[in-house]
Amino acid sequence: MKILVLLLLVGVAKGMYYTNCELASVLQSAGMDGYAGVSLANWVCLAYSESSYNTQAIDYDSDGSTDYGIFQINDRWWCSNGQFPSYNGCGISCSELLTNNITADIACAKIIVDQQGISAWYGWQDKCEGQDVSQYIAGCDV
Ligand SMILES: *[C@@H]1O[C@H](CO)[C@@H](O)[C@H](O)[C@H]1NC(C)=O
Repeated sequence: MKILVLLLLVGVAKGMYYTNCELASVLQSAGMDGYAGVSLANWVCLAYSESSYNTQAIDYDSDGSTDYGIFQINDRWWCSNGQFPSYNGCGISCSELLTNNITADIACAKIIVDQQGISAWYGWQDKCEGQDVSQYIAGCDV
């Protein structure tokens, strides 16, 4: 049942998918290249690994919390979904993380990486750490 609901939500939440180069350009303008020592290619790899560049990605974790948006930011620690108590370290509503304007996602990602480092994202650990990530921005005008 839980899986069915998830599939339905994924089906509905089409949203906007950035291309890798669009995302690289937006992230670069926002000062993410080298932010907290993390290269632009690593940020793009992280976003691909976490959301496939889908600004409306929503995923449910086994601990009952939910991850939102292009960086899959968690509602137990970083944003509030208005339904249960959250530490809300970014001081935002989770719905702000699902718009095509990823300004809030970037600001929150900066707070997360400042506090926990890039390893806070399991997707980065799985797909990007120790890998040649240059392909994620290869050919982009950044
Ligand atoms: C995105 O949101 C930010 C903050 O609300 C705003 O300053 C900016 O102008 C918006 N960008 C676009 C392209 O709408």
